Amino acid sequence: MRLRARIATLLGTSILVMTAGAVPAAAHPDPPVDGATGGGDAYFPAAGNGGYDVAHYDLDLGYTPQTRALTAHADVTATATADLRSFSLDLRDLDVTSVTVDGTPTSYTHEGGELVVTPAEPLSEGTEFVVGVDYGGTTGQPEDATGALYGWISFADGAFVANEPEGASTWFPVNDTPADKATYSFEIDVPEGTVAIANGVPGEPRTADGRTTYAWEADDPQASYLATASTGNYVVTDDTGPGGLPIINAVDADLDQAAAGAVLATQPAMIEYFETVFGPYPFGSFGAIVDDDEEAGYALETQTRPIYSGVPDESTVAHELAHQWFGNKITPALWKDIWLNEGFATYAEWLWEESTGGRTPQQQFDEAFAAPAGDPFWTVPPGDPGAPALFDAAVYSRGAMALQALRVTIGDDAFTQVLRQWADRDEFVPVGTDDLRTLAEEVSDQDLAAFFQAWLYTPAKPAAPTPA
Ligand code: ARG
Ligand code: ZN
Repeated sequence: MRLRARIATLLGTSILVMTAGAVPAAAHPDPPVDGATGGGDAYFPAAGNGGYDVAHYDLDLGYTPQTRALTAHADVTATATADLRSFSLDLRDLDVTSVTVDGTPTSYTHEGGELVVTPAEPLSEGTEFVVGVDYGGTTGQPEDATGALYGWISFADGAFVANEPEGASTWFPVNDTPADKATYSFEIDVPEGTVAIANGVPGEPRTADGRTTYAWEADDPQASYLATASTGNYVVTDDTGPGGLPIINAVDADLDQAAAGAVLATQPAMIEYFETVFGPYPFGSFGAIVDDDEEAGYALETQTRPIYSGVPDESTVAHELAHQWFGNKITPALWKDIWLNEGFATYAEWLWEESTGGRTPQQQFDEAFAAPAGDPFWTVPPGDPGAPALFDAAVYSRGAMALQALRVTIGDDAFTQVLRQWADRDEFVPVGTDDLRTLAEEVSDQDLAAFFQAWLYTPAKPAAPTPA
């Protein structure tokens, strides 16, 4: 929201921009355009769209785990960033039964995961509009480009909902690019006894006729891959972080509650520690969704409420918490820059371990750097790993090593500044690796082109860093 996606801008309005100077506007007004059906990310060309900027998703989701039936209505509030004859939303594997624009039934097509909407009248640039979509179907177990389960993953007792990178479109109509942040409201209607947990803060649940509706408000604008609306037989407990921050934890009733409770009890202290290193916690709430779905097999930093497929260890909790600054607040525009999320979150694990009396980041670096030059580990360049290696060990571990190598190269003081200033950027301006290089060069007054080339883009083991 607020700033339109850089890429969507290029794709959606380039025609207008190119002709604006050449043709007198009054004599030959530019015809409205069809908004792009892709967001311009080379890794996931179908994800995202052009020509509009979403401000808010209002999602009404009715879900029954036993039958996997999803019956839903979405109201998507957006602003046109071009004169639009048509525009597209991403929605896969579900059936659409009606579409409205500002309440008026509208024609649409829905093929290949693109819901293309053509309003009766074109939408002029700057107009705010609401798209209403009725949709639903039987949910499944979608897989991402790496072969992992993602999106709306159906299990016997509910759904584990983890969208990264472009799985939001498996459960709602969406501009599925991290460059278009929006606020969310959820109403999730489930059989009585099932609990639904989403981002942000809850309203009062309502039960009638054997169904319970859970309301959640996520007022901190978030990328679509960070939305969740997970369901299960959760036990919910409240805690409080620094400054009265509400912490809401949901732990599957089939798990060891004491073990989960013990690790989640470290969250307030972790927030307090990371605030001293990265600056203020960026959102209005926090917590955890701890599920018993080992088949999913990973955790995700869903905004304000990370989701875990089993009882996490302390490092994993520190990792997902650190993502609230790195990834969720400061968000890469393109998926090739995923190391800006995973390298920083892994480095934050190292910092947390050191702060609790464990290994130093330099010790962690040394252990990982011991991998011989011939190890295939070094063949994945973290700064452009390719979609199938999006979550490769190199993205995490070599990404974190790159930060420690940067620290050695520019010195502790400059590095501390870089972490702080990086976390302090505008949350609505998506970042890329060059932005980090520019910041590090400014702070350190060094030319870091060769450093970034070696650590992030070269498919070979870099030389050991040397202090300047
Ligand atoms: N970003 C997550 C984390 O490291 C990992 C997500 C893995 N997702 C996937 N679709 N394979 O915290
Ligand atoms: Zn991560």
